[in-house]
Amino acid sequence: MERTAAVILAAGKGSRMGSPVHKQYLELLGKPLLYYALHAFENSSVDQIILVTCPGEVGYCQKEIVEKYGFTKVAAVRPGGKERYHSVYEGLKAVKDCDYVLIHDGARPCVTREIIDAASDGARKYGACVIGMPVKDTVKISDENEFAAMTPDRNSLWLIQTPQAFEYGLVLGAYEKLMSSGLSKEKITDDAMVVETMTQERVKLIRGNYANIKVTTPEDMEIAGVLIKKNQSKK
Ligand code: CTP
Ligand code: MG
Repeated sequence: MERTAAVILAAGKGSRMGSPVHKQYLELLGKPLLYYALHAFENSSVDQIILVTCPGEVGYCQKEIVEKYGFTKVAAVRPGGKERYHSVYEGLKAVKDCDYVLIHDGARPCVTREIIDAASDGARKYGACVIGMPVKDTVKISDENEFAAMTPDRNSLWLIQTPQAFEYGLVLGAYEKLMSSGLSKEKITDDAMVVETMTQERVKLIRGNYANIKVTTPEDMEIAGVLIKKNQSKK
């Protein structure tokens, strides 16, 4: 029987939110923001969850989130690192006995069971996949003075979300290679980039949902509140 794990990331500082409390713990409809992603994965086909949090918040997360809301699939809460890729690597190392792994931003509370299933199926079929959506706006590349330099063909542009899902050995190997390499890592913004750069594997783009937003700035909290209410009323 093949097993699937999820690494849920909550070790960021939420600096763009501008709140003294890290954004993953801000209250949304009476629960901490991080609750919603954990709830979606707890109620999915995923077998095991590794939660990655700031080093000083491991005990708080274990008690006030995992135990309080009864998330039985959380096998470990681990301290993350300075950048997102450090946190992902810590999470990947904590995964036990799994064939596939889904990596998800704890700051995306509107993820659904359907999206999680699509990512799991994609990992099985393609070895590496990311959830995303085609862009709706025109995208321009600016020059150094903020004049339009180029307009890429919109038909080939996607906005990439999470979960990003992989064969476990493939993504762990890619991260190990990255961490031991002398390559500059500052431009790495997602897990697919690590697999694209460090392996020969092609990453499949899979349509998710425009509502799977990342909560980054204060207005995103309001939008997420509306979207979560809508998801809840469908059940
Ligand atoms: N993350 C993490 N470890 C880091 C940085 C980010 O686990 N060192 C997580 C965040 O908690 C979030 C996800 O990665 O769930 C996406 O990151 P982002 O939206 O950029 O969150 P923050 O880094 O917390 O916010 P900001 O960039 O505004 O500081
Ligand atoms: Mg960040």
